[in-house]
Amino acid sequence: MFARMSPLSNRGVRLVFHRAVLLLMLNLCRPTLQILKYEASDSATVFQKIIMDSHNGDLFVAGRNTLYMFDKDLVIVDFVETGPVQDRADCDPALLCPDLSPTDNDARVLQVDPKSGHLLFCGSVKQGLCTMYSLRDLTERQLFSSQNRVNYIGGKKDVVAFFGKWGGQDFSALYVGIPYDGRPMELAPKAIAALKLQQMNRAFNLTYVVEDAKLGVRTAIDIDREYKSSYIVNYIYGFQHNGFTYFVTVQRENVNPGSDYITKLVRVCENDMGFYSYTEVQLSCRKQNGVSVFFNIAQAAYFGSVGKEFKDKFDVDDMENVLFIVFGKSDQGSDHASERYGSGLCMYEMNDIQRTFTKTQKDCFSRRGRILPWINSDAPQCMLNVSTG
Ligand SMILES: *[C@@H]1O[C@H](CO)[C@@H](O)[C@H](O)[C@H]1NC(C)=O
Ligand SMILES: *[C@@H]1O[C@H](CO)[C@@H](O)[C@H](O)[C@H]1NC(C)=O
Repeated sequence: MFARMSPLSNRGVRLVFHRAVLLLMLNLCRPTLQILKYEASDSATVFQKIIMDSHNGDLFVAGRNTLYMFDKDLVIVDFVETGPVQDRADCDPALLCPDLSPTDNDARVLQVDPKSGHLLFCGSVKQGLCTMYSLRDLTERQLFSSQNRVNYIGGKKDVVAFFGKWGGQDFSALYVGIPYDGRPMELAPKAIAALKLQQMNRAFNLTYVVEDAKLGVRTAIDIDREYKSSYIVNYIYGFQHNGFTYFVTVQRENVNPGSDYITKLVRVCENDMGFYSYTEVQLSCRKQNGVSVFFNIAQAAYFGSVGKEFKDKFDVDDMENVLFIVFGKSDQGSDHASERYGSGLCMYEMNDIQRTFTKTQKDCFSRRGRILPWINSDAPQCMLNVSTG
């Protein structure tokens, strides 16, 4: 199933990606623009994730059943097949299951772990069980233990995963946001978690950054058992700012199955050992000047900064910390944007976002808010003291 394939030349033609954008920025002053491009081959090739090893510019691209490594000149230096894999959607990877069939492996997580010099890859097969690849040689790979379910962070649906800060240290936690994908409940990972990647001898293992089973404390939060299979939260993007970890999510307005999907930003404090500080606020994006369209479905997001001209034109206070979200609009009751409605781009200043979270948490203390029933169906009122950044 995992085979190495060498020359990847001439296998049909399909444009996959190029570095035009990057080069445009770097080469503005040069008379000619050199565009590097790689054209894949057979039309069945679907690319899904891309990440650069910032150390040397190597580029890793994962797609359905494939993982490529390019050098900084976009020449293929390595390639492995990651599927199809003998699998079944309800199979516990720790057990031997009957009736397996060849199943495509879609890429869900592709991250460079700078500490161990490995590439973390998790796909859609084997309940999202991850694999580590050497950044120098993709044939050198180590599976995570299928016995430890914390190692299942891929899955049938798209997930968000990124290395971030914990305890003031850079890149020491792997933050994940994982939607429920219909698998047997006992094999389902927690919705949001801060994980630690451990390496022992040649094996890798994921654990919660903090876990005390006796006290029931861990760096994770889950959708309440009662709602986990019906209240689906899709994770679009994740980032950190000013001591908090944020996820852009698409979920229903409330647990009522007839309620509409909306976009919510969820937040936990960066060093919260039990994710007690978990808070949600709704993000809205409306078209101004004309018919007011309410865009409800976040499709992609980017946290970054804007330039001086942009700051002046749009009257941005803090040009270093803004969140852009591209939205679509869905038909009623659907969590997918329909092309019919077009799309919108909204920008949020983190100052405003912080203020909104603070207000939400104050409301909570004053008992005007309540604990989110899809997080804890037993708690009718706010009872926890959370930090208000
Ligand atoms: C891997 O981590 C889990 C907890 O997430 C732990 O129970 C297990 O013992 C660890 N395995 C190894 C080999 O350390
Ligand atoms: C919550 O925090 C506030 C402010 O820090 C404090 O005054 C209050 O006593 C705390 N409440 C509880 C129940 O711990």
